[in-house]
Amino acid sequence: MSAFVSNLKVAILGFGTVGSSVARILCDLKPEGIELTHIYNRKIARKRTDWVPSTVQLTEDFETVLNSDANVLLELVGGLDPAGSWVRRALAAGKSVVTANKKLIAFHGIELEKLARSKNAHLRYGAAVAGGIPVIPGLQQGLAGDQVTRIEGILNGTCNFILSKMEEGAEFADVLKEAQANGYAEADPTEDVDGFDARAKLVILSRLALRADIDPNEIPCRSIREVSAVDFAYARELGCTIRQIARAELRPQSVNGSDVLASVGPMLVPKASPLAWSRGTENTVLVGGRYGGDVVFSGHGAGGHPTAVAVVSDVIGIAHGSRAVDLPSKKTAIGGEFLLRHSIRFIVCDQPGIIAGIALALAEQGINIHAIFQKPGYSQDRLPFVVTVEPCAASALHRALDRIGKMTCLLEKPFDLQMLEPEDKV
Ligand SMILES: NC(=O)c1ccc[n+]([C@@H]2O[C@H](COP(=O)([O-])OP(=O)(O)OC[C@H]3O[C@@H](n4cnc5c(N)ncnc54)[C@H](OP(=O)(O)O)[C@@H]3O)[C@@H](O)[C@H]2O)c1
Repeated sequence: MSAFVSNLKVAILGFGTVGSSVARILCDLKPEGIELTHIYNRKIARKRTDWVPSTVQLTEDFETVLNSDANVLLELVGGLDPAGSWVRRALAAGKSVVTANKKLIAFHGIELEKLARSKNAHLRYGAAVAGGIPVIPGLQQGLAGDQVTRIEGILNGTCNFILSKMEEGAEFADVLKEAQANGYAEADPTEDVDGFDARAKLVILSRLALRADIDPNEIPCRSIREVSAVDFAYARELGCTIRQIARAELRPQSVNGSDVLASVGPMLVPKASPLAWSRGTENTVLVGGRYGGDVVFSGHGAGGHPTAVAVVSDVIGIAHGSRAVDLPSKKTAIGGEFLLRHSIRFIVCDQPGIIAGIALALAEQGINIHAIFQKPGYSQDRLPFVVTVEPCAASALHRALDRIGKMTCLLEKPFDLQMLEPEDKV
């Protein structure tokens, strides 16, 4: 054994998709100095464990693990409770913890890190954002020497699967069903499609990259449910595609005490952007640094094996005595809005005066029209067209759209998408 490797006894909490992949990798690779001693899950007898070495104790009693000589617990159960109380109790007992639980780290990460430090224990969560892509260690170490000014990411594989399928012409509801059938989406897809999963991940990245401790509930989230196939047809006209983007940015100057802008939701992404290239369940994260420029991380953001690689890497780091770089963050309020170009999709029953009415309502809010697109081949009775506008705040645009929404020619509520253009901001 190398002089720098300590003997770790490792217990897995949660023998599901990620937990069983972690066990598989530990049993296959047998990393130096790391011994799997326990696997804990409720009703463990239901699980297929015939391949697990007999030296590993299977248990459905958490206290057995807590009172054992296992010195690193891998929390792979998920959710805030009871996983959170198990993590607290393990750290309080001086055990180190590795977790893939983004929700726990987004809401309670700072308190848990403090507890870990006070007990001289490790808390690692490299798998909590973007699964197998080493974004968190990349920020903690590789980019710690830069001042990161912005993060833009595709952080939710389910949304990326749905939107990249819709790019081929399918409608949201059909692709969601397919994603559920393939196990890419939960029976209740709210966390994913409405942006809450990506929001938790953005909070963790903002803490590490922007050193901003943001309340997850303050980040505006927009669902991808309203995106339809016709939006992709018009996105193509604009040289764009549509992706769920989680983004946070340092403001050049603090405005009303707020230093960070952040949001999660569907956006028009130029085809030339690396964020447009990810397909299926892939994740991509773009980190913009003041000194080093842009760095892009990309790969499999979810799935048992890719996520397990990140968990095992964290355990190996602990075995080698490497401490996570402790980057101090400060409580930061989110304020203001990104100032961006928008495209607005209207579906109307055609009649004279529609464009004049839209232009007037936009002008009243100080918003300039940039271009109007109308693809041939649609019926005059149900005519989709798109208006793009110069950079403006979403709140001003929504005031105009409220007014436009009263026009009798409209068959659906207008749907607007922001365009990802990092250089245009408040
Ligand atoms: N799957 C991914 O691609 C992925 C990617 C990145 C991060 N993560 C994170 O990794 C963690 C685990 O995800 P997963 O996909 O592996 O979930 P999973 O397949 O549902 O596994 C969770 C395991 O924990 C067990 N469990 C749940 N509640 C329990 C309780 N109260 N007491 C005892 N056992 C309990 C479950 O047992 P039952 O079988 O009885 O339900 C299941 O075996 C989550 O924090 C998730 O956010 C997952």
